[in-house]
Amino acid sequence: PVTRTFDWTLSLATGAPDGVEREMMVINGQFPGPLIEANQGDTIIVNVRNGMTTGAGIHWHGIAQKGTDWADGVPGVSQCPIPAGSTFTYKLTVANQFGTFWWHSHMGNTMADGLLGPLIIHSPNDPNVRGRDYESERIIILGDWMHDMSDVIIADLLTVDGYRNSTGAPVPDALLINGVGVYNCSSVTNTSCTTQPLPEIDVVPNSSYRIRIINTMHYKFSIDSHPLKITAADDTAISGPKALHQLPIGIGQRYDAIIKTTVGTHGSAYYVRAAMCAASIANVPSNYDITALAVLRYVATGSKATTTLPSSTDWSDSVNNDTTCYDLDTTGTSVFGFITNSALESIAHFFWNSVTWTNYIYKPMLFTLKNGGSLNSSIITHAIFPSTGAADIIINNHDGGIDHPYHLHGNAFYLVSRGSGLLTATEYAARNTSSFNTTNPLRRDTLVISRSSYAIIRIITDNPGVWPLHCHIGWHLGVGKMATIVVQPAAIRNLSVPAAATALCDASNIPAGDTV
Ligand code: C2O
Repeated sequence: PVTRTFDWTLSLATGAPDGVEREMMVINGQFPGPLIEANQGDTIIVNVRNGMTTGAGIHWHGIAQKGTDWADGVPGVSQCPIPAGSTFTYKLTVANQFGTFWWHSHMGNTMADGLLGPLIIHSPNDPNVRGRDYESERIIILGDWMHDMSDVIIADLLTVDGYRNSTGAPVPDALLINGVGVYNCSSVTNTSCTTQPLPEIDVVPNSSYRIRIINTMHYKFSIDSHPLKITAADDTAISGPKALHQLPIGIGQRYDAIIKTTVGTHGSAYYVRAAMCAASIANVPSNYDITALAVLRYVATGSKATTTLPSSTDWSDSVNNDTTCYDLDTTGTSVFGFITNSALESIAHFFWNSVTWTNYIYKPMLFTLKNGGSLNSSIITHAIFPSTGAADIIINNHDGGIDHPYHLHGNAFYLVSRGSGLLTATEYAARNTSSFNTTNPLRRDTLVISRSSYAIIRIITDNPGVWPLHCHIGWHLGVGKMATIVVQPAAIRNLSVPAAATALCDASNIPAGDTV
């Protein structure tokens, strides 16, 4: 194991991911931001210099942060914001994890302004290794894009009229693949707009690729003529469908898929498609083009034989007509986590209550608890798990119109049961828990819970800290659709926290006039 150090500068810049110029946030001038790549056991140091004008916090999505909650990157929960002009160092150790992860800003919804990127951990323990199971890798990041800054949108969402006359998550202005989208410039008058070429993913013929799909919007993902052999869900290696044509993928989720480039020859080209799931957004206009495209191009010799667009056609399976996008395990295709744990047997549980999350970004819950203070339940939704064990969390999606992707920090969870309708505490207590799947439950860190349905997720409460549990639709997160689980408050007092992390909360770091 080695230590890998990354030096990042966050800054404001003019960019045009979908061809329309706007102010955005970039890291080292890049969008998507830089790749972090390491091996299991490595130590990852990221020096983050905040060259922007507002505070920042970077979260490492899916990294458990065992014993290092201070590096989880959530202002108001695990740190104070990195002030404009300052540098803060995150230290991640990935002792027990490998696979496909990502990182993103966790300040408001500024990830929607550009602060996101991939994080890949390789390991010889991975059941699929390069050189044996596949030859090369490609990362595909799916996302959406708005033409306004996120703080403007969030401020509007919190008003009675909402943003563009809606208080729900806005319909994206564009969909992006690897940071590139195509916007119809004919409707743009007040800013510069250039119609972009589609993003290209080059592959060599007669090879095999591990495609690491990282998703920041609800999509169905497919590559024309290339079945996807799914090998991992989030960071859990799976045994499951041999080959899918279309992959439903929720916000925050990742899938790894192996494809074989034996379909074409030098010069062949196929569309890569990411079709937005209508179930993720209310009021999608009927004329809205909900598919983002990229080109998978076969390049045998290092130089492209052609740059013409593919003539390939979309898979015509019936799932093609499905406008909903549930998790794989509810589409009739079985996907199971490999990992089981006998500690999954005895349980405690809580139900999410109706307290609206208030984020006190200069009073991180972690530090309140570390200093022996207590949390105010009437303003901060949280559940406390005092000791190590298994615990069930029941998440009811009361929303009858939208599917919500729930993400838990600090702990991957096991999906032991799910169903339609909502589940009360009494019904849960009356359940025969032997009907729960504790043999090979899906293990992941982000789960789509469809409209008017519930899921029971089981966690092992062995990682002391305060861990957000939130909807990963960034706009919902940005307006407070979040709770936390507090694991072993007594042990939180003993967590070691670097002085630099504590110092972020010094009064001198709080901008004048800013009190929350
Ligand atoms: Cu992907 Cu709370 O985060």
